[in-house]
Amino acid sequence: MVRVGCGARIGLLAAAVFFMVVQMRLFAVQSHYADRIASAIENENECIRLKRNLIDKYSSQQGRVIALEEETERLENKFAQLTMLVQDYQNRDRSRKQSQNIVVEGEIVAAVVIMACNRPDYLERTLKSVLKYQIPVAGKFPLFVSQDGSMEAVKVVAKGFPEVTYLQHVGGEPLRKQNPQENDAYYKIASHYKWALTELFNKRSFSRVIILEDDMEIAPDFFDYFEATSWLLEEDKSVVAVSSWNDNGQRQFVYDSKAIYRSDFFPGLGWMLTSQFWEELRPKWPAAYWDDWLRLNSTRKGRHFIRPEVCRTYNFGEHGSSMGQFFKQYLEPIKLNDVAVNWKSKDLGFLQEERFNREFAALIARALPLPNSQANVVKMAESVGEDVRIEYSSQRQFEGLARLFGVFEEWKDGVPRTAYKGVVVFRWMGKKKIYFLRPDSLRLLGFKGEEISR
Ligand SMILES: *[C@@H]1O[C@H](CO)[C@@H](O)[C@H](O)[C@H]1NC(C)=O
Repeated sequence: MVRVGCGARIGLLAAAVFFMVVQMRLFAVQSHYADRIASAIENENECIRLKRNLIDKYSSQQGRVIALEEETERLENKFAQLTMLVQDYQNRDRSRKQSQNIVVEGEIVAAVVIMACNRPDYLERTLKSVLKYQIPVAGKFPLFVSQDGSMEAVKVVAKGFPEVTYLQHVGGEPLRKQNPQENDAYYKIASHYKWALTELFNKRSFSRVIILEDDMEIAPDFFDYFEATSWLLEEDKSVVAVSSWNDNGQRQFVYDSKAIYRSDFFPGLGWMLTSQFWEELRPKWPAAYWDDWLRLNSTRKGRHFIRPEVCRTYNFGEHGSSMGQFFKQYLEPIKLNDVAVNWKSKDLGFLQEERFNREFAALIARALPLPNSQANVVKMAESVGEDVRIEYSSQRQFEGLARLFGVFEEWKDGVPRTAYKGVVVFRWMGKKKIYFLRPDSLRLLGFKGEEISR
């Protein structure tokens, strides 16, 4: 045996041990890294899985977004169609209501103004009568009292009614009188009217105004009558105002509460005009006698008024500016309508110019002609059982006839009271109609047919 090897063996052993230790260390480090790599790979896989998941989720969401967008578009189309349908129905409803004379809900038909001055007791009576029928329709017919001057008692009455909006015209502007003998009242009234209408149309922007005076009572269907006729002022520009008054409305001359006529003669007394007509009148408004001015053809320019057969206002003002004998003869016997008329269901299309003229002419042509020359024309009219017509060819002839029957004789600017194309119509002993007419009346009405020959 070689002895030498003892030291070397120890060295070798030590080296071997060292080597093994190093190997073991290396192995430990290696396996540590292997573990970490494995976990990194695992993490990466997890990430990829999550990413896939997200992509899946995203694309399925994307699909839903597209589906929702399509749904939205579909609903929008449907909505547009429905909107069109609704509009269509609304339009139809509106025109149905218009043809039935029902004003669309929530709309004001007209402001109503009572012109007052210095008669507190009259004003109170008028207000009580008006409010009786105005309160249920107050939203459509806002009520005003306009006082001319400063009489305290009148103001107290007006302000005593909470439903009323009080207006006051203090005036004071000089009267433009042409003749010192004239009554101031006519000038004050005209300037008060101008002031009140300016207030309502121009300051408060109403599109229609109904004017009453402080000595009137109204019929139960007063407001329905104006509501039912209001469309005509927009549709038929040959009509400038609607009145609730018939000058020949005394009880012996009226019969049918539903009858309405066109007229060339401004009746006044409870009447409605539009802002459009007002704008035409305002710059030319006269200093006095405004109602007679409105009766001039130069003011109305060939256009007409609407009047009922049976009055919807009753004038109780015996102590007015121009009354007395006139009151007893013409105003006191007026019949105030007391029959319920269902204006909302009535078709008033017959009032349009062309149709009215045609139908009015046909009725006149069918009436029995009586000679004007005979003194017993009233008896003859009474003895027949049908409508009659009597011609007049001059103002004097008309006045003679009117006197015989007791209707108004008065003319203004070539037009008898209530006349339309020269025709004055009234009832006689009930239902029978009597027509006074000019030789050219039927022609003016556009009559083309044959008069019934007898
Ligand atoms: C009334 O006025 C109109 C229009 O201004 C006119 O066409 C018509 O001839 C006039 N009528 C009379 C009777 O003067």
